[in-house]
Amino acid sequence: MTRKKRGYVCDVCGYDAPAWFGRCPSCETWDSAKSFSSLEIPEKAPEGLFLPLENIDTFDHERISTGFFELDRALGGGIVAGSSVLFSGEPGVGKSTCVLQIASSIASSGRDVLYITGEESARQIKLRANRLGLKNGHHIHVSPSSEIDYLRTADLSGYTLIVLDSLQTVRLAEIPSLPGSVTQVRECANLVISRSKKEEIPSLLIGHITKEGLIAGPKLIEHLADTVLSFEDTARGLRFIRALKNRFGPADEVAVFEMRSDGLSEVQDLSGITVQEFMPAPGNVITAVVEGSRAFLVEIQSLVSKPLYSSPRRVTSGVSIDRMLLVAGVLTKRAGIPLDTLDIYVNVAGGLSLDDTGIDLAVAVSLVSSFLDKPVPDKACVFGEIGLDGSIRKVSHMSRRTERAEISGFPNTISPEGRVLTRDISELLKIFGGVISERK
Ligand code: TYD
Ligand code: MG
Repeated sequence: MTRKKRGYVCDVCGYDAPAWFGRCPSCETWDSAKSFSSLEIPEKAPEGLFLPLENIDTFDHERISTGFFELDRALGGGIVAGSSVLFSGEPGVGKSTCVLQIASSIASSGRDVLYITGEESARQIKLRANRLGLKNGHHIHVSPSSEIDYLRTADLSGYTLIVLDSLQTVRLAEIPSLPGSVTQVRECANLVISRSKKEEIPSLLIGHITKEGLIAGPKLIEHLADTVLSFEDTARGLRFIRALKNRFGPADEVAVFEMRSDGLSEVQDLSGITVQEFMPAPGNVITAVVEGSRAFLVEIQSLVSKPLYSSPRRVTSGVSIDRMLLVAGVLTKRAGIPLDTLDIYVNVAGGLSLDDTGIDLAVAVSLVSSFLDKPVPDKACVFGEIGLDGSIRKVSHMSRRTERAEISGFPNTISPEGRVLTRDISELLKIFGGVISERK
């Protein structure tokens, strides 16, 4: 009646082959082959499998608030009923804290949350809840068992949310692999996601990513989850939660949080922090970057100085070194500023990491400002992309950036559309009203 495909899969990297292998040809792990059989193909397909598009009901997905305005926005309006959300990030970034705060927000309206923890003991969860000052504990039900076979049959009907913390620490007893292996991670995720869909209860799955890259990590189940949120750590306690994938909303939206002693707290106005800390000194420049649908202001700082050693040093933090070298190269060649013989240091204030070509012009203005030892004009916000020919080009969301700059008190935009119009890098010196010989 059925045909089965049999074979072997590497339990570490997921490589599969029809024949047994002693050492995985892909990741070179010894003795990682596990047999599998799948792909049952019945000879006759059951009827009624295919639905005409016409006959499919559409309804607005019910959404559950996370209790965080910004996170709800990044998700497209909250967590969709029956959907699965993967929270991925490095250990210690704040995933457990975040999901416990979400659980508590839901519990505060009298709805029950199931919190499955393979990672921490029930006591540790309770201690964290106390530290966060969370109440309504009787609506959060903790399951401190790392074996989650019971989920196949457990009655979940009373729950509004299922939390699994974490994918790498739970297992199914019937699968002879260690927690964290490809098979366990995939099967555990499958079980929770399928229960979640069937019962229309959303689930939050936590997955660790390691700095070295991951093996049986969240990557493996990114395609299974409806939404993938990535937690990124920046200096000074800021956390970015980015929607990498979202079946029910915009992708690439970002919510910004701050890690405090009482948990994660939303940062609604990142530009405000930047502006507050900005000092109009040579080399310091405000620029506007875009993340998701939002623009915000950040400060770029440069220091250009006589070289310490025979070959000049180039150091960046928060900006790619290649981007900085490109900007410096164009300034040297097209604007006659001899940066090629000088040490250059570029830094993004607040430890943020920027990957937006719109900052090119700000880096250039910052370098020139430091070179001339003159601060940038008052209340200036600088953005634009620089071409190798010295041209300055428009970037995405020009008006959004301009608007943000105006709202935050930096109306003197320097850009290819700005109040100070710049179309070519050779015009940059004019901004400072200076010529090279004025350099101190
Ligand atoms: P955690 O949520 O345990 O991270 P993850 O689950 O991603 O591994 O949080 C880790 C860090 O956050 C930990 O180093 C302590 C810190 N923290 C705070 O600063 N304030 C708090 O209120 C809490 C609960 C944790
Ligand atoms: Mg954790």
